[in-house]
Amino acid sequence: MAEMGPKIGVLTISDRAYHGEYEDRGGPAILSYLTDHLLSPYDTVSEMVPDEIDRIQDAMKSLSEQCCLVLTTGGTGPAPRDVTPEATEAVCQKLLPGFGELMRAVSVQKVPTAILSRQTAGICGTSLIVNLPGSPKAIAECLDPVLPALPHAIRLAG
Ligand code: MTE
Repeated sequence: MAEMGPKIGVLTISDRAYHGEYEDRGGPAILSYLTDHLLSPYDTVSEMVPDEIDRIQDAMKSLSEQCCLVLTTGGTGPAPRDVTPEATEAVCQKLLPGFGELMRAVSVQKVPTAILSRQTAGICGTSLIVNLPGSPKAIAECLDPVLPALPHAIRLAG
């Protein structure tokens, strides 16, 4: 059997997308960003959960066991059901607040409401989890500034 390449997990967190009331556009935006920006071969595994902290934590843990990097989209805002950062903090052994700080700092130059995202990042086991907002256009806006740091962060995590 051919050796599998490194895996990247893509986790969409959205009540409306999960219940089919809204098409998931964040997950596909991440996949297309990865296709355009990653040079080495990799596999992806995608999952979708509603904004339920237990479901989010379970998905993060299971993706972290399979993947060196898990990118989440959605649930980072101030609404009552937005709990992605809390789930990330609960499953991670170490937080990397610099990711959220840089993504917000760059994003507010483009959209003032970027300050509303509480997105963070951390190490879960040997995997790096990075939160992204749910808006499809936020994906590139947030990943562009942190992309250069990802390979080293992944190496240190593993
Ligand atoms: N960041 C970037 N780069 N671009 C965006 O369009 N949207 C903001 C913010 N961060 C946005 C962004 C908005 S309007 C909200 S409410 C928060 O992300 C939280 O979004 P989420 O709850 O879908 O994660």
